[in-house]
Amino acid sequence: MDLSVRLAPDNPRGLTLKNPVMTASGTFGYGTENSHLFDIRKLGAIVCKGTFLEPRDGNPQPRIAETPSGMLNAIGMEGIGIEALIRDKAPVWADWDVPVIVNIAGETVEEYAAIAERLDWLDGISGIEVNISCPNIRAGGAEFGISPDTAATVTAAVRKATSLPVLVKLTPNTSEITAVAEAVAGEGADALTLINTLKGMAIDIHSRKPVLGNITGGLSGPAIKPVALYMVYEVAKVVNIPIVGCGGISTAADALEFIIAGATAVQTGTAGFSNPLVHLEILEGIEDFMTQKGINSIEEIIAAARQ
Ligand SMILES: Cc1cc2nc3c(=O)[nH]c(=O)nc-3n(C[C@H](O)[C@H](O)[C@H](O)COP(=O)(O)O)c2cc1C
Repeated sequence: MDLSVRLAPDNPRGLTLKNPVMTASGTFGYGTENSHLFDIRKLGAIVCKGTFLEPRDGNPQPRIAETPSGMLNAIGMEGIGIEALIRDKAPVWADWDVPVIVNIAGETVEEYAAIAERLDWLDGISGIEVNISCPNIRAGGAEFGISPDTAATVTAAVRKATSLPVLVKLTPNTSEITAVAEAVAGEGADALTLINTLKGMAIDIHSRKPVLGNITGGLSGPAIKPVALYMVYEVAKVVNIPIVGCGGISTAADALEFIIAGATAVQTGTAGFSNPLVHLEILEGIEDFMTQKGINSIEEIIAAARQ
């Protein structure tokens, strides 16, 4: 049975995963925190926490709220910054037999490009995932990923700055997801990740105040799965680059739905907080399904829903 998938088939450096099961950024730290819980070499790839150029403190507490079938988070991209990542994390990853993809974010296009440039040709880093859900400070705080133009500008700048495989992670907080996807693919992204969190909020009726210190947060978990699945299905119709499905995946059946909708690989985030072994269970479940159905390669079922 062949579980391997290629996430950057058009990039000379390539990005082949031994299986399609990945961690979602911000939910698996730098991988180092979880490496004692299970054999992380079994994962297809690890996507690390979002990293800005400089270290960041993140948002005021509370940063997390539970919701029916999901959670809201407003971590605010707390992180160690790119220099510490290069100094302390990359050398550890270089010894791992699992590709690590660095999720990057910036408040300006130049910041994205500067981080991408710093990561090029570093041992231990197999790819970059560009989070375009960040507020563009020059454009008054609107997310880069909301419009095809700004999404394309960030992608072009990152593409120019690195030869590494580039995945661009799209935000669902736009009415133009297919146009954004096409624009990003047109600027040389190797793959797309869909989706980041949906904007939401919760209110404490007793204090009559928003629950989150940041007022709004990002909704994740099973609640967003149908939205994410729909977006993967729609985007897969208009681009020819691999899609990584993400959003509410907590079982092998969820993962298979995304693959059948058009995803080449999948990421799981929130489900790992309540079940740290979820990625392995998803992998085993995919293997069992393929055995039962006589499927020899993942490629056979990618986008089967459309045929
Ligand atoms: C606590 C938390 C932190 C996150 N941090 C990041 C991040 O740094 N960069 C990013 O692109 N996405 C981040 N995300 C979004 C996830 O990677 C993922 O896209 C989203 O949670 C949907 O997947 P899920 O329902 O499996 O969690 C974060 C999500 C959570 C819950």
